[in-house]
Amino acid sequence: MDSYLIHVNGHGNHAPMLDVNLKNTGNILSSGKVKSRKPRWAVRASEMSKKTFNPVRAIVDSMKVEPNPKKAMISLSLGDPTVFGNLPTNDEVTRAVKEVLDSGQYNGYAPAVGYQSCREAVAAYYNCPEAPLKAQDVILTSGCSQAIELALAVLANPGQNILVPRPGFSLYKTLALSMGIEVKLYNLLPEKAWEIDLEHLESLVDEKTACLIMNNPSNPCGSVFSKSHLQEILAVASRQCLPILADEIYGDMVFADCKYEPIATLSTNVPILSCGGLAKRWLVPGWRMGWILIHDRRDIFGKEIRDGLVRLSQRILGPCTLVQGALERILNQTPPEFYHNTLSILKSNADLCYAALAAIPGLRPVRPAGAMYLMVEIEMEHFPEFENDVEFTERLISEQSVFCLPATCFEYPNFFRVVITVPEEMILEACGRIQEFCEMHYQGAEGAQDLECDK
Ligand SMILES: Cc1ncc(COP(=O)(O)O)c(C=O)c1O
Repeated sequence: MDSYLIHVNGHGNHAPMLDVNLKNTGNILSSGKVKSRKPRWAVRASEMSKKTFNPVRAIVDSMKVEPNPKKAMISLSLGDPTVFGNLPTNDEVTRAVKEVLDSGQYNGYAPAVGYQSCREAVAAYYNCPEAPLKAQDVILTSGCSQAIELALAVLANPGQNILVPRPGFSLYKTLALSMGIEVKLYNLLPEKAWEIDLEHLESLVDEKTACLIMNNPSNPCGSVFSKSHLQEILAVASRQCLPILADEIYGDMVFADCKYEPIATLSTNVPILSCGGLAKRWLVPGWRMGWILIHDRRDIFGKEIRDGLVRLSQRILGPCTLVQGALERILNQTPPEFYHNTLSILKSNADLCYAALAAIPGLRPVRPAGAMYLMVEIEMEHFPEFENDVEFTERLISEQSVFCLPATCFEYPNFFRVVITVPEEMILEACGRIQEFCEMHYQGAEGAQDLECDK
């Protein structure tokens, strides 16, 4: 820390005075001209900490959440698939970590970017002719969150801007603003299964745009982009020379009637940092294992971005070594039935939830195709009692003890998000209570019948 600048003004007949400069005074506050240095404590939170803001926490914490004491609380709000115990990870996954722990071989520091053998395992797992990967194209991180943080930090400077989906996962904005990076929100279109409004997206690009963040499959929408839509996104990125930060943490988590395409497999020229991890598909979010896959067929990122990522990863050494040690086995030996089973539970819950909510006057769910979520529009004109989605979901808690996240948390008012990882009977109970709530508060205006028809 810099030290005090102390000028001694000792001329003429005047007694010497200390001029204590206020800059860089650390934890001691002192004023301009003082006779003597009188330190006192003043520990201030940094500017960065003040610019760090999690909208979900802010909105949820401000909600008056007193559930109805007569009804057990059902929380459909947390994107953590482990909370109800109905979706355990596979035995092979846990066994792999147990054996690594017992071996005593993974107690030391790993390289900042992860063990070479683990990087090789991830590269081999995701390698394909359309998007080849080698160990040096993989950086292991502490969860997908750190992958996103590193990717953002290497692509954007303070004062630049990034393009972020609306509705979208709030972490992008939280990280960007704390780094002094501006966020421009591009629209997703519910009527087109949450495809990107490409015209809107392209209209936001300017000379300060550093990258495009896209998230597929999506939190909060549960949508999955088609191959042709991904190609359209790539065309915009290519035309505008924009690198892509692809958040693919829900990669491969799509329902049977739908195909997941990693965006890098469709790109011949756009450089892409794909962020992923174990959290969702392997159902172990607490293990904090994530990765960045560097796709750079035309050598546009080159050494510049690769070296930048390595330097940034050295600020904090990568993920837990025990999980690194188990990674190769987790990727290659988890039985395929495990993934199928998870997806069939999610699909069945999604169908049940969609059907139940679509039958409720005043609500319009959008059918999901993957991930673990479903978005529901509230026809606010039929619920004049409530100002917005926050008030609607607040009252749903106090009357029915059902907690859904208001989509204001994702910059998308008048919707709420439902998590579909909860046990089937809870989904059904929750939907029943949501129905009771809506029937209680629904106001059928003159036009209500017309609105019903186009459901
Ligand atoms: C879209 C999206 N990206 C990233 C993450 C963060 O993943 P991790 O828990 O691996 O940091 C989440 C977690 O919910 C998510 O929904």
